[in-house]
Amino acid sequence: YKRVTVKSLVEMKQTGEKISMLTAYDYSMAKIVDAANVDAILVGDSASNVMAGHETTLPITLDQMIYHASSVVRAAKRALVVVDIPFGSYQGDSKEALRSAIRIMKESGAHAVKVEGGEEIKISISRILEAGIPVMGHLGLTPQSIYKFGTYTVRAKEEEEADKLKSDAKLLEELGCFAIVLEKIPAKLAKEVAESVSIPVIGIGAGGGVDGQVLVVHDMLGMTHEFHPRFLRRYLNLYDEMSNAISQYVDDVKSSDFPNEDESY
Ligand code: KIV
Ligand code: NA
Repeated sequence: YKRVTVKSLVEMKQTGEKISMLTAYDYSMAKIVDAANVDAILVGDSASNVMAGHETTLPITLDQMIYHASSVVRAAKRALVVVDIPFGSYQGDSKEALRSAIRIMKESGAHAVKVEGGEEIKISISRILEAGIPVMGHLGLTPQSIYKFGTYTVRAKEEEEADKLKSDAKLLEELGCFAIVLEKIPAKLAKEVAESVSIPVIGIGAGGGVDGQVLVVHDMLGMTHEFHPRFLRRYLNLYDEMSNAISQYVDDVKSSDFPNEDESY
């Protein structure tokens, strides 16, 4: 396997090859995602929702993120592994941010970290980058700030927020980030941002004018089924498939159909 690097992602933007990214939080899922040639795996703090059942991404801890990340790293032979620094582990000051990033890199073996925000956290981003740790930015609907937004609706529809997003994207590029995630913003704005920077812009709910796409793997596989944003394309309905299989198992146990003679020693 030829490992995808932060350099190869930037080269993909230059050659116009779109970047595919999916989340994964555990070894078994990451194995499948990696073997299917996804370029980058995001160990997202969406693990807080998907794996732990929390309502927001805020409760997940740095230790929990490192546990998920180390499982994914053991599975990923080809994909670049990027890990979210969780809420509360980098906003305090730049020293804390660096310490958190170093813990993720050292204890999980991941290849890069991701943080939410622009101007507000520029000193932290610089400090992490100075330590030689690649940083991916994340602008637009940044779920760690959900209580500031109050809703999960589209961001940057008004000029003021759009202008800030554009200047934050330029700032992230200048600081030395290797890529930026743009979440749930108008497609026109996302395209404009992607064209204004030389680093790849990876969208989720940001239209087709960007350099790559990311989705939460449980959402695109249809394993979660209460979540229907417009940007989500469901490639499977695993919720129903798994429910049917498990109900069948229950029936087979109850009726003594399972195990049969061939399945016994
Ligand atoms: O945590 C996550 O899954 C993310 C992606 C949605 C970009 O940050
Ligand atoms: Na995230």
